[in-house]
Amino acid sequence: MPIATQAAVIEAGGAPFTVHDVELDEPRPGEVLVRMTAAGLCHTDLGVASGGLPFPLPGVLGHEGAGVVERVGSAVTSVQPGDHVVLSFTSCGRCANCRRGHPAYCATWLPANLIGGTRDDGSATITRDGQPLGSHFFGQSSFARAAIADERSVVKVDPALPLELLAPLGCGVQTGVGAVWNVLDPRPGSTVVIAGAGAVGLSAVMAAALTPALRIVAVDIVPRRLDVARKLGATHVVDASTEDFAARVAEITGGAGCDGVIETTGNVAVLRQSVDALSARGTVVVVGAPPFGTEVSLDVNGMLGGKKVVGVTLGDSETQTLIPVLASMVADGRLPVSELVSFYDFGDIQQAVEDVKSGTAIKPVLRFTD
Ligand SMILES: NC(=O)c1ccc[n+]([C@@H]2O[C@H](COP(=O)([O-])OP(=O)(O)OC[C@H]3O[C@@H](n4cnc5c(N)ncnc54)[C@H](O)[C@@H]3O)[C@@H](O)[C@H]2O)c1
Ligand SMILES: [Zn+2]
Ligand SMILES: [Zn+2]
Repeated sequence: MPIATQAAVIEAGGAPFTVHDVELDEPRPGEVLVRMTAAGLCHTDLGVASGGLPFPLPGVLGHEGAGVVERVGSAVTSVQPGDHVVLSFTSCGRCANCRRGHPAYCATWLPANLIGGTRDDGSATITRDGQPLGSHFFGQSSFARAAIADERSVVKVDPALPLELLAPLGCGVQTGVGAVWNVLDPRPGSTVVIAGAGAVGLSAVMAAALTPALRIVAVDIVPRRLDVARKLGATHVVDASTEDFAARVAEITGGAGCDGVIETTGNVAVLRQSVDALSARGTVVVVGAPPFGTEVSLDVNGMLGGKKVVGVTLGDSETQTLIPVLASMVADGRLPVSELVSFYDFGDIQQAVEDVKSGTAIKPVLRFTD
């Protein structure tokens, strides 16, 4: 029996989100029916909604969910009805990178999460008037009052923790934190630059503040965001709209250059400047995602001092181990995600989109109140 619910649908690239009655498929053996409590809005949702990625539309996006398990498929073992869960990306669990603990580099990552729009057998998890919608986005499509999620998209969390604040852990927060802890892994005394102080960059600032990095430099073009970065642990801020990025990094490091950059702007000029700003053996972690096909040029001889440029998906996180830790740290205040979050009713999703586009909101979180 199809399950009736409501979802925010994008009809075509460039169209707004509009809420419609839809039907969910019954959970299959490896799936979970989740009653959503909240869902974060991320730039990747906007990229797909604008038609910039080949996800099938009309479709249902949403990939930072949090909710309560209502029903489980016959093969599900990790959760049961009533469990509180954070929803994140899906993965196969069987390929070499999944087995090595790097599910963000799963062999099925792109079709299963970003562009497929169906289960791996081609079926839709959501229909409208019997017609399939693009669904299964990040194994969840959680811009809906209820979602069919892959078991591997679902992470059980302590029910005492505030689910509404945990929603952004599934993508934005995990991405920024993981880029610092899992990939850059700053050594004691190092200088870390965070380029872009949006949801991902500010999460990276919070994470860097929990490492032995001595200097944490936040770079943005919006002064208000730099103020937030300072509050969250940045020791220095650079307003790139009025100051020269490279000159300021050189000044802050006494001419040595920085040990690491977390690049979250998706701007190739900033990426190039980031590589140039590194000291010998420094690393740029590339997080920001410009349109498919974007290229950047590098000074080859400038790379020979052992510089590294490494791209990263979702902080290279192993969700089942990382997300419960992040949830505890949100609850005890060591990861003050509440500083980034603005809440909206689910029905106001398009307002949330406008506010994130204008920069008024850093991380909108939709609430599914009845
Ligand atoms: N790799 C991944 O797995 C992954 C996951 C999530 C998001 N992303 C990508 O990461 C990027 C950041 O996401 P977000 O949600 O934080 O976006 P955001 O828009 O909130 O943050 C980007 C920030 O960069 C700043 N910025 C833009 N141009 C700049 C410039 N020239 N110099 C300095 N600062 C500049 C903006 O003012 C903004 O504060 C996006 O491109 C998003 O698609 C990647
Ligand atoms: Zn895999
Ligand atoms: Zn995202």
